[in-house]
Amino acid sequence: MKSIVILVSGRGSNMEAIVRAAIPNLRIAAVISNRPHAQGLAFAASHGISTAVVDHTAYPDRTRFDAALAAAIDLHQPDLVVLAGFMRVLTDDFVRHYTGRLINIHPSLLPAFPGLHTHRRALEAGVRVHGATVHFVTPTLDCGPIIVQAVVPVRPDDDEARLAARVLEQEHRIYPQAVRWFVDGRVAIGADGRVAIANAHQAAAGWSVPPLEEVSG
Ligand code: GAR
Repeated sequence: MKSIVILVSGRGSNMEAIVRAAIPNLRIAAVISNRPHAQGLAFAASHGISTAVVDHTAYPDRTRFDAALAAAIDLHQPDLVVLAGFMRVLTDDFVRHYTGRLINIHPSLLPAFPGLHTHRRALEAGVRVHGATVHFVTPTLDCGPIIVQAVVPVRPDDDEARLAARVLEQEHRIYPQAVRWFVDGRVAIGADGRVAIANAHQAAAGWSVPPLEEVSG
């Protein structure tokens, strides 16, 4: 059994997709928000999941907010912390505290379009494909090792809302998938800093990423 804590700031549809996926051997220990009125909190509470708020406006700086947030998370001793539309830049100390057990979903094909307004920027750039990325979080924003991506074609008549809706549909598919892989022990970061995904058979046999020398022969 693995346990996760999910962090949300608003709507919480990715959190909802993870809850609805009913992943075997997964306990969702808590949903925590930095905004007291985040929509996602009501959904979590109505599904019997413990909720908490760590309101960033109550803290004088990022360091103290992140320390309070880490304390709220660590009460649950989760195996994995899942950022699901958590719209706060995290301090390096916070990120390092959760090395290898903090993941995020970003609405673009990273490393393209880190940051905000990804759909508008994709349309402005004229890219033919766009999408979403689930990745481990490292101190550099939207930059950690990639676990899974989904590609969405950009149509000539797309506007920001239509494109965002099709990307979101894919987010709801790949985020539960990534969490499932983690719970099944199929995700690991290799010595080359990249993510390897084991097949179910390898995972059942207690797989770990082979050292780099063996990979390169
Ligand atoms: C999602 O599209 C997610 O990828 C994005 O915020 C939205 C949250 O929606 N996250 C980021 O932009 C993080 N850089 P949700 O609250 O309905 O899951």
